[in-house]
Amino acid sequence: MSGILDYETVELDDDDNCVVIIDQTKLPSKIEQRRLYDAKEMWDAIYLLQVRGAPAIGVAAAMGIYILSKGIKTDSYQEFYDTFVSYKDYLNSSRPTAVNLLWALNRMDKICSDNQDKPIASIKEALRREAQAIKAEDIQVCRTIGRYGLTLLKPGDGILTHCNAGQLAACKYGTATAPIYLGQEKGYRFRVFADETRPLLQGARLTAYELWSVGIDVTLICDNMAATVMKKGWIQAVLVGCDRVAANGDTANKIGTSVIAAVARHYRIPFYVCAPAATIDLDTPDGAAIHIEERPAEEVTEMWYETRMAPEGVKVFNPAFDVTDHELITAIITEHGIARPPFSESLLTIKSR
Ligand code: MRU
Repeated sequence: MSGILDYETVELDDDDNCVVIIDQTKLPSKIEQRRLYDAKEMWDAIYLLQVRGAPAIGVAAAMGIYILSKGIKTDSYQEFYDTFVSYKDYLNSSRPTAVNLLWALNRMDKICSDNQDKPIASIKEALRREAQAIKAEDIQVCRTIGRYGLTLLKPGDGILTHCNAGQLAACKYGTATAPIYLGQEKGYRFRVFADETRPLLQGARLTAYELWSVGIDVTLICDNMAATVMKKGWIQAVLVGCDRVAANGDTANKIGTSVIAAVARHYRIPFYVCAPAATIDLDTPDGAAIHIEERPAEEVTEMWYETRMAPEGVKVFNPAFDVTDHELITAIITEHGIARPPFSESLLTIKSR
C-alpha cells in the first residue's frame, strides 16, 4: 500500500465476518483500519464520523446490515425479518441528514421481501450480493458524475470545494472531486482550494490530504477566506457534494456550504452540486423539511485542540449541515445528466432515468 487512496473506504473482510473501514477521525496523521463486527460498533462508527460522507455511509450501512443479518440464527422468515428491521432502524438512527443511509438500508430491505419464499441462507447470500452491488454502483456513479462535471470546466480552472466529497466520502473518485480526478487524468491542471470546514475539519484533514496525496494542486484555506479567493479571481467554479437534495432543488450539505453559494452568486461564479441520484429525495418537498443533525458542543469548543478554545459553559449551536436554497445553485450534476433550474422539473426527469 502506498497512499491513502489505495485503501478501500469501506469493504467486507475476506471471510465476510465484519465491515472494514478506514478510521477517518485518525487522518491524516495515521492510516488506521477498523473492523466492525456488531451493531453498536457500526452505529458508533457512523455517528463518530469514522466512516462519513453520504455515499460511504450508505455502503457501510448496507455492508453492516449484511454482516448483522448473517448472524441471525433462525429458519423462520418472519423471525429473521423482524430482527433485520430492528437492526435497520438502529443503524438508520445513527445520522439523520444523509438520505443515502436509509436509501441503502431500504435496498437491503427489499432484498429480504423479494426473497421471502427462499431459504434464509439464500436471503443472506442475496444480501451480500446487494451490498457489493451498492458499492460497485457507487464507483460507476461517481465516475459518471465526474464525466458530466468535467464538461462544465476548463483546463487551469480554479475550483473551490467544501468539506470532503472525495474518495473518502464514497468508494472511489468521490462526487465533487470526481471531475477533478478525471481532469487530472486528462492533464487539466486544476487549481483546487479546499475549505478547512469547521468544526470537524473534513476539508483540511481529508480533502486537502487526498488531493495532495495524488499530486493535485490543492491549497487549503479557512472557511472565512472563500470571498477573498473569489474576489481575487482565483475561482472559476464551486463544486460541492450533498447529503440530501429536496424535490425543489434545495440542498443539504456540510455546514458552511450555503454561505459559499451566496458569496459565489455575488461574484457570479457558478455553484455546482454533485449528487448521485440516490441523494435526490423527491419525498422531501423542500429544504425546510430536511432534518438537520445537531452535534455535541465539544466539537466546536475543544475537539481537535490541545486546550479548550471557548469559555466553559458558553452556549454553542452546532448544526452539522445547512441548506443551500435552490435559487443559489447553478446546476446539480448527477450520473443521469446535469439538472438545471427549474429543479422541480429537471430533478423529476433525472429520477425517472
Ligand atoms: O459530516 P460529514 O463529514 O459526513 O459530511 C459530509 C458532507 O457534507 C459531504 O459533502 C456529503 O456527504 C457529500 S459526500 C460525497
